[in-house]
Amino acid sequence: MIRVLLIGNGAREHVIAETVKRSAHNIALFSCMKSNNPGIASLSEDVLTVSYNDREKIGRFARENGVDFAIIGPEDPLNSGIVDFLKKEGIPSVGPTKSLARLETSKTFTRNLLKKYDILGNPRFRTFSSLEGIEGFIGGLEGVVIKPDGLTGGKGVMVQGDHFQTKNETIEQCGKILEEHSSVMVEEKFEGEEFSLQCLCDGITVVATPPVQDHKRRFVGDRGPNTGGMGSYSMEDHSLPFLKKEDVAEGLAITQRVAEAIHRETGEYYKGIMYGGFIVTRDGVRLLEYNARFGDPEAMNILPLLKTDFVDICRAVIDGTLKDMNIEFERKATVCKYIVPRGYGLPADHPDAGSTSSKIEVSDTEGVRLYYSSVDKREDGLYMTSSRAIGIVGIADSLDSAEEMAEGAISSIKGPIDHRPDIGTKVLINKRIQHMKEIRG
Ligand code: GLY
Repeated sequence: MIRVLLIGNGAREHVIAETVKRSAHNIALFSCMKSNNPGIASLSEDVLTVSYNDREKIGRFARENGVDFAIIGPEDPLNSGIVDFLKKEGIPSVGPTKSLARLETSKTFTRNLLKKYDILGNPRFRTFSSLEGIEGFIGGLEGVVIKPDGLTGGKGVMVQGDHFQTKNETIEQCGKILEEHSSVMVEEKFEGEEFSLQCLCDGITVVATPPVQDHKRRFVGDRGPNTGGMGSYSMEDHSLPFLKKEDVAEGLAITQRVAEAIHRETGEYYKGIMYGGFIVTRDGVRLLEYNARFGDPEAMNILPLLKTDFVDICRAVIDGTLKDMNIEFERKATVCKYIVPRGYGLPADHPDAGSTSSKIEVSDTEGVRLYYSSVDKREDGLYMTSSRAIGIVGIADSLDSAEEMAEGAISSIKGPIDHRPDIGTKVLINKRIQHMKEIRG
């Protein structure tokens, strides 16, 4: 029997749990969650509800259950050093140490790493710990992106044209960031289309999974505030409709060089997920940011397609033997749409902002995958809590069919839910294709 510890409580971890349990090995799953996810709990032998900072408790739970290795889902436990802690207990992890998780937790670390090792993909950038010098720097840029140097749950990036307009507003926003964070990263803005390339890495070998496009904006037509991600899609040909073949190869090549640079810089091997948030521009592929984990929702697009045993992949990541594996994915399209409470993601002063716990009824959703996130299973049924509630995933031979499947399932759910009906539709995809055509000229 292989005993696996999973840390995390979202839909991303629900799909990880499902993929672990699909293994041909005899698996016992043990889960640490900061709040109970009924989907993960139903797949687990035992569950510990715990803060991700409480490494002692997590370590004790792992020891008592004799786990062979751990999979770390979200960034918070990576940032709190859970991998280092478990390592001292003799438990290896799929997930980087605290120092290597800086790939996600410190924008400055990653930008400087690319710069030092001469890896293509950076914008012009500078980190500021005060407002001094910002005006001069942005004077030379056509458009600007600003982000705090730290974890922000995917919601910290502010883009000129969307979140602020003028030079003065840029400086004002930088000032606001500096009130809460020690530094602000100011970067040149890229024009193009974004894609997520989630790669598996054992420290030396890097393997790409199919690219996915996420939708961060809350409302139809990419309007409204940024969220953790309202939904995502992937294609049966393992590309995206606006990408050229070499774009994915370029994203992978950057990631391979970054993995090598991490080892040269720190002497440590990166073992886990390197999820590159890339943008394809007129001049090729550029890096927006790395995450040190699978994407949420993007994990729900790729893990259900995995044909290779995920537990074998995890062991190869830990043992450094990924190069010996042939990792395969089904040639299917996927569409993931999150259902959310209506108040989700709205600014605090919006009349519909916030959300009270509300009951939903999910009836038969034949063939469609449901991954729980912020839901509570009570005696009288299922309740949405405060955030993204359930990832609904259609999987089919074509994107149209996958999208229809997801919509069909969502329309059968009763309760005060909202979602983005445009994700995965022809109208939105054509907009992306047209946008890229204009950019490439
Ligand atoms: N899909 C965005 C993220 O996982 O950070």
